[in-house]
Amino acid sequence: MKVRIDGVHKSFRKDKHQQLEVLRDVSIQIKDGEFVSLLGPSGCGKSTILNLVAGLDSPSEGSITVDGKQVNGPGTDRVVVFQQGGLFPWMSVVDNVKYGLRLKKISAKEVDERADDVLKMVHLSKFKGHFPNELSGGMQQRVAIARALIMDLKSC
Ligand SMILES: Nc1ncnc2c1ncn2[C@@H]1O[C@H](COP(=O)(O)OP(=O)(O)OP(=O)(O)O)[C@@H](O)[C@H]1O
Ligand SMILES: [Mg+2]
Repeated sequence: MKVRIDGVHKSFRKDKHQQLEVLRDVSIQIKDGEFVSLLGPSGCGKSTILNLVAGLDSPSEGSITVDGKQVNGPGTDRVVVFQQGGLFPWMSVVDNVKYGLRLKKISAKEVDERADDVLKMVHLSKFKGHFPNELSGGMQQRVAIARALIMDLKSC
């Protein structure tokens, strides 16, 4: 997957008259298979960049393409492990993990098998019926990771 961020600016509205400029003229090119870390002090805009690439927010200026296609919103080709977990509190662990696969044409049997596999990987098989508020912070973070891993396109 190739990601291209070109001349991106992002500002958030602070109040009626003021804008908070978070990203100014950011350009990044990520090659297929490349592993990239964004480093910087808290509040410098790392999550903002990730949200833009995920299509959860849009740049104030500039463009973002993934494999040559303009990012206009979220898609099953991009997954995010949110900083705060972002689990659905009303869903059990296994239902949280299976959530993204609803958008793909995969049989219920395979969805169940893949959920079992990823839950095993993150050592949470015994907690599949629990709800997020019954888990530790680290366990919740592992559910969020399992929810991203289950989307792995190569095994579809
Ligand atoms: N939706 C929003 N509305 C207004 N301001 C926002 C919004 N999202 C982020 N910000 C502001 O933008 C700046 C960058 O936030 P961001 O979450 O990208 O930081 P970060 O680099 O990921 O920080 P951290 O390392 O603490 O996670 C911060 O000043 C934050 O307050
Ligand atoms: Mg962040």
